[in-house]
Amino acid sequence: MKKLLEIITEEFEKAFVQKGYDAKLGKVVLSNRPDLCQFQCNGAMAGAKIYHKAPIMIANDVVETLLENDKFASVTAVMPGFININISSSFLADYLNQVEKTDKYGCEGKNETIVIDYGGANVAKPLHIGHLRSAVIGESIKRLKRYIGDQVISDVHLGDWGLQMGLIVTELECRKPELVYFDENYDGPYPKEAPFTLTELEEIYPCASAKAKKDEEFKKKAHEATVKIQNGYAPYTAIWKHIMNVSIPDLKRNYDNLNVSFDLWKGESDAKPYIPGLIQDLIDKGLAYESQGALVVDVAEEGDKKELPPCIIRKSDGAALYATSDLGTIIQRQQDFHPDGYIYLTDKRQELHFTQVFRVAKKANIVDEDTKMDFIGFGTMNGKDGKPFKTRDGGVMRLENLIDQINQAVYDKIMENRTVSEDEARETSKIVGLAALKYGDLSNQPSKDYIFDIDRFTSFEGNTGPYILYTIVRIKSILEKYKAQGGNVSEVKIISTDNESQLQLMLELAQFNGVVEDAAEELAPNRICSYIYDLSNAFNRFYHETKILSEEDEEKKAGYIGLINFTKKILETGIDLLGFEAPERM
Ligand code: ARG
Repeated sequence: MKKLLEIITEEFEKAFVQKGYDAKLGKVVLSNRPDLCQFQCNGAMAGAKIYHKAPIMIANDVVETLLENDKFASVTAVMPGFININISSSFLADYLNQVEKTDKYGCEGKNETIVIDYGGANVAKPLHIGHLRSAVIGESIKRLKRYIGDQVISDVHLGDWGLQMGLIVTELECRKPELVYFDENYDGPYPKEAPFTLTELEEIYPCASAKAKKDEEFKKKAHEATVKIQNGYAPYTAIWKHIMNVSIPDLKRNYDNLNVSFDLWKGESDAKPYIPGLIQDLIDKGLAYESQGALVVDVAEEGDKKELPPCIIRKSDGAALYATSDLGTIIQRQQDFHPDGYIYLTDKRQELHFTQVFRVAKKANIVDEDTKMDFIGFGTMNGKDGKPFKTRDGGVMRLENLIDQINQAVYDKIMENRTVSEDEARETSKIVGLAALKYGDLSNQPSKDYIFDIDRFTSFEGNTGPYILYTIVRIKSILEKYKAQGGNVSEVKIISTDNESQLQLMLELAQFNGVVEDAAEELAPNRICSYIYDLSNAFNRFYHETKILSEEDEEKKAGYIGLINFTKKILETGIDLLGFEAPERM
């Protein structure tokens, strides 16, 4: 479906051509002086150079042909040659009524297949804040891409193959040497029951990790155990499976609480079968060579601003690395999906890693030349002191505790007014808390650091998740009252108006499809945040200036209801794209 700006631009292109000028000059944009007009066309300024005429003369020519056009309320040429545009409110109302009936409100994409790699949790380690950002931003980008019609495959890509696994095995052996896994004469079968609970596992890992920092011998053993796991040594593989079985359901539960879900629960370990072939291929193609005992591929290119070190494919001790498993995973994804594009989300400190991986993938033709490879490196979530967010005692904040904190803050706010039962307040605070957390994150550009500020994030006023939800709840309550008066919400539609705040709300609504397409293209959920914030402000202004339910003119009233009903739908779609929802009341 055509965007409002496209329709207006077409009218201007026709007008320029009719007067003998180039159609390209007819581009219309949103006004940067909303106090003067809604849209503007600056083509006459550029035309002046081409046609050696004063811009105002060109502008006057063009305006002349548009005076009778019923899409416009006013089209005015102003010195030195700008054209100020206001569209007619009945044209705008018709457009909105059409948008409302159109699938996805007229948003369209390029029908691409995309693999999105986000989440990235590490098995056996509790989810921490870095994984929170990856999950929250990744989930929103997945939803945006799907909304515009792309085929999106999401993969959590677990860190299930690293040193943490060897550390756990080694610590387990210290604690329970009598277990069959450590008896060299035992050759199975291995117990179905895991030799630890989730709680124990969560304690074993940090303990082992701390030990390895002090105790060289322990660290060496953990390394050896890791290599044994990677080589398929049966007893340790059995422990590895137990770790996976205990840890993954907990990770799933955590992601569920965040309203985040994945199509695939693959991990680094799934890349393993592809690695020998990958290494051989890189050698055969003459890309990989030995350097100080390691196998490396050069990735530097002319025009690089920073020096890019070669990508290490195999260490001197034979171990595969992070880059190797990422390349193996790409081979697998090519076989399974042959996507048009890849999107990866991690902390921005991994930028070098992904640049190297993408370059090797292209050089070795693992992906096609035109495959899009995007890396979104996000900034850090900081505490109020401007340093990475920590617990009070300086530890890594567990995601669950963070969520509990924010929910409690919302609960306290709801109970201040105490219009609902405690149970309802608890339920509502979970919904609103998640919105506060996600919106607080997503409203920033992904690459920027931001400060996690519970008071600000949970405020019902300002640029926050709860403010957006509050607006939706307010509209829901008006619609309920309208129904109680005997009104039928499915029969109303948007009508023309000369009321300023109503017109502004209509103009905001008309931007939706364009904003969503841009946000999906730019991988920028923050665009959706600022849009729904502007839309909420436009609605609230209209609401404060208008007596909606007590309007006596029934047709006018129905028009109001049509407008706010559509506003509700757009806001609800917006928050769904961000990955949260609104309660019935709050
Ligand atoms: N597990 C990694 C980490 O915690 C993130 C994985 C990101 N995805 C990838 N394909 N490398 O840093």
